[in-house]
Amino acid sequence: ENMLTPFDMIGEETLHRLVDAFYHRVGQHPDLTPIFPNDLTETARKQKQFLTQYLGGPTLYTNEHGHPMMRARHLPFEITETRAKAWLGCMREAMDEVGLSGPIRDEFYARLVLTAQHMINTDENAK
Ligand code: HEM
Repeated sequence: ENMLTPFDMIGEETLHRLVDAFYHRVGQHPDLTPIFPNDLTETARKQKQFLTQYLGGPTLYTNEHGHPMMRARHLPFEITETRAKAWLGCMREAMDEVGLSGPIRDEFYARLVLTAQHMINTDENAK
């Protein structure tokens, strides 16, 4: 009812700075650039919508794109354990850059670890 969501606690401005800092790193990471578009503007816009909703804020992603189905939307890309670790590393560095710290950071990050593990769809050792 009057509960603050993680989105309220982090704030839209910090969340947007986080996503921008994150994709700046993704765009330079040798494990990630092969599967991401060169221009990450639209990717960042969608991620701001998605994370707003993921953190309990307004359902911006679903309003524009429908059910998130994140694992299904990632199936066109080879997501290995190495790439999941790289993704999470970019996110930790971005959290450091924007000064996101304390329990809110730890809980957000722990959830992202689970979601990232769920996105893995390719066994790199089998290749
Ligand atoms: C889209 C990679 C984890 C949320 C994408 C795209 C790639 C990608 C290549 C397509 C970018 C584009 O064409 O615009 C990865 C990799 C991950 C990962 C390597 C490592 C595990 C995650 C996680 C989340 C997430 C943990 C959410 C917490 C999204 C969203 C989009 C996206 C919201 C945009 C979907 C859309 O097009 O509507 N990701 N991702 N990803 N990813 Fe991930």
